[in-house]
Amino acid sequence: MKSAEIRSSFLEYFRSKGHECVPSSPLVPGNDPTLLFTNAGMVQFKEVFLGREQRPYTRAVTSQRCVRAGGKHNDLENVGYTARHHTFFEMLGNFSFGDYFKRDAIHFAWEYLTRVLGMPPEKLWVTVYETDDEAYDIWIHEIGIPRERLTRIGDDPDGGSDNFWQMGDTGPCGPCSEIFYDHGPEVWGGPPGSPEADGDRYIEIWNLVFMQYDRDKDGVLHPLPSPSVDTGMGLERLAAVMQGVHSNYEIDLFQNLLAAVGRVLGQEDVQGPSFKVIADHIRSCSFLITDGVMPANEGRGYVLRRIIRRAARHGHKLGMNEPFFHRLVAPLVEEMGAAYPELARDQTQVEKILLQEEERFRETLEHGLKHLEEGLERIRDKTLPGGLIFKLYDTYGFPVDLTGDIAREKGLELDMAGFEEEMRQQRERARAASSFRMTDAGAVAAGLSESRFVGYEDIEAPGRVIRLGQGEDGTPVERLQGDQSGSVVLDTTPFYAESGGQVGDTGFIEGPQGLFQVTGTHKQGGVFIHQGQMVRGSLACDDMVTARVDGERRQAVVLNHSATHLLHAALREVLGEHVQQKGSLVAPDRLRFDFSHFEPLRPEEIARIEQLVNRAIRANAPAEARVMPIQEALEAGAMALFGEKYGDQVRVLSLGEFSIELCGGTHVRRTGDIGLFKVIQEAGVAAGIRRIEAVTGQNALDHVARMQSTLEQSAELLRARPEELTERVRQLQEHSRSLEKELEAVKNRLASQAGSSLTDQVEDVGGIPVLAARLDGADPKSLRDTVDQLKNKLGEGVIVLATAREGKVNLVAGVTDAYNKTLKAGDLVNEVARQVGGRGGGRPDMAMAGGSQPEALDEALASVKAWVQART
Ligand code: ALA
Repeated sequence: MKSAEIRSSFLEYFRSKGHECVPSSPLVPGNDPTLLFTNAGMVQFKEVFLGREQRPYTRAVTSQRCVRAGGKHNDLENVGYTARHHTFFEMLGNFSFGDYFKRDAIHFAWEYLTRVLGMPPEKLWVTVYETDDEAYDIWIHEIGIPRERLTRIGDDPDGGSDNFWQMGDTGPCGPCSEIFYDHGPEVWGGPPGSPEADGDRYIEIWNLVFMQYDRDKDGVLHPLPSPSVDTGMGLERLAAVMQGVHSNYEIDLFQNLLAAVGRVLGQEDVQGPSFKVIADHIRSCSFLITDGVMPANEGRGYVLRRIIRRAARHGHKLGMNEPFFHRLVAPLVEEMGAAYPELARDQTQVEKILLQEEERFRETLEHGLKHLEEGLERIRDKTLPGGLIFKLYDTYGFPVDLTGDIAREKGLELDMAGFEEEMRQQRERARAASSFRMTDAGAVAAGLSESRFVGYEDIEAPGRVIRLGQGEDGTPVERLQGDQSGSVVLDTTPFYAESGGQVGDTGFIEGPQGLFQVTGTHKQGGVFIHQGQMVRGSLACDDMVTARVDGERRQAVVLNHSATHLLHAALREVLGEHVQQKGSLVAPDRLRFDFSHFEPLRPEEIARIEQLVNRAIRANAPAEARVMPIQEALEAGAMALFGEKYGDQVRVLSLGEFSIELCGGTHVRRTGDIGLFKVIQEAGVAAGIRRIEAVTGQNALDHVARMQSTLEQSAELLRARPEELTERVRQLQEHSRSLEKELEAVKNRLASQAGSSLTDQVEDVGGIPVLAARLDGADPKSLRDTVDQLKNKLGEGVIVLATAREGKVNLVAGVTDAYNKTLKAGDLVNEVARQVGGRGGGRPDMAMAGGSQPEALDEALASVKAWVQART
């Protein structure tokens, strides 16, 4: 049974038992800060179990995508080296919300496993919670499981509990009953509860949780409003059982993915952990991105980044020196796209993000390796110093295990204590700067904890050089010169540092002896860092300089930022208050805005949004920024980002009456500055999240001009005026449809003419009219029609017609009623097809087949006579 068939049989079984088939929820749990990723089927029903949310059904069934990599359940390190660990897996589950309880849950599970899937009952072992007599009795007396295969299991003495399931430290929980499958004596291991239970022989496949309590933060159990059921069965484990294999990586789905990994890496033999790692990781990474997680340096995004880098590293280990990981998205979509349409929908997006991340890491991978080589030359003993491991981790993004691999190849140990110490110091520095981002230690040492930003008012300002850093890692230096690249910190700057979605400014810093080009500006804590390169002369610490922002670019950014606020307000007005900002990019050439909404926008909604924004632009209202206490801002109705932390004092930006938002960005003076706002794209980025891309000002005019010229060119091709285009295209479509019909009719006529000339080729085989002929150029449908016509014309007989095109053979066999008891068309067509490298089948009177060796067709057709002869 294929994985996909198991998945649908499970859903179908429970649907037939009155369960609502609910789609998998995204991997990022909505509004649940207690959880990093969705790690069980019950996550989306948590509030329902607690009685805080009602649904129109009391029974549900799901196939839920889950990730266990980071947070409470973390399997990342094991993946690739064991038979059953995954970062991503699918959990099949049935749920009852105050409807049925233990009895039905147990009966359903037993019936599904033994009747629907046909598992031999004697292979199944069961556990119940030690004091759960009710479940025990149901298993013994109603299911009839022998006592020796039923075990009571209690709380784990180490503090964990074995047969009492809980989603986290708090939340719904209850005793559970687990079902195990015995993989047979050739695998080492003992039954659940025995000292050898850790072995691989008896594998837990299904967990039935009898949800009864809500655990509060003091550990006290409160009874749930009504007893419920939550179950979970790993699809991959179940598939391994059903397909008679021991490792999850041997099931159909993984075999296909592993083959794809081999293809992409150009390797035939796909044994070995690295291949498994890659096949596993492409699943978690693709689904995480589909569900809106982006590679980042913290939180969920960092987990994603680590997984991608781990995959990239294993590819590197297998000799792959160019990005490859993104090429596995397509084979994954082939495997899982039907069950998870969102994955298929976002394929291009996922590929792009993975490619970008791979390219990004490849750069640091090479720099890092060079740095490591240099470090290795200085090593005297057999230990890689903690400082070096830290530098690789911190600056080059090397996960420690990558460094570990390389060290092992050189026969070196890792100084992990030294590494931990560096990490501790780093955390301390970060704390000292009371910021969640790493603070620029050099700047702090130089007495600067915050740059003075004057860029709201000016784009050019004098300042003093506080600190210079050289190279990518920003090693402190006294002077930058030649064409050195590095970073500059000033006491005062008009450069906006990337934040709140707005890109950092670019421009120049001019000192008394040289010029530095700024290619990007970012913040570390309150310190602004100008990244770039010397273009002439030199720049030294303490130099008095003039910092000049690229004004044209800044102005383009400003238009887009203010337009983003107008767009946000318009979206809420047109679509509703549920629209919340989920992400934003404000660049010079365009703006991008992600927001929560459950369906694609209709063209008239987009038109309405454009209209509202452009009306607000024409109103030419002033932009006003005020700093005020957060409470006051919220009371005034300022929009704040959900889940974002704000200080006590916030900056509030209002654009007339139309929009009021908390924002630290730079904005227009009046909305009229924006000129024109034009949406260029609307698309989905994850379940429940849409994305709008738009342009403003000159970019909007350019966009309109491009559209117009496309329109004019098309019109010219069709010799019409632009306003007549729609009508002309409609006419063309109609015309081509009627041509297709005519062509079809002509083909039919030709086929029937060919049919009549074919009757000349009929031969007599022991009294039976037999015709085996080629009808090249015909399509399969006209072949079939011709066989029908020939049957009519001949009255009785055996007919095989064939056509060969572009390396493919199509065959149709027809046998009239008088003969098709002994001479079955299905057998005949198969016999011929076999000789041209194919097969087929059908009814005794009419059957079709295909093949791939046109060169063998004539001989195959010649064999028809002998085939008939042998059977009469
Ligand atoms: N929620 C239960 C589990 O994850 C079924 O095992």
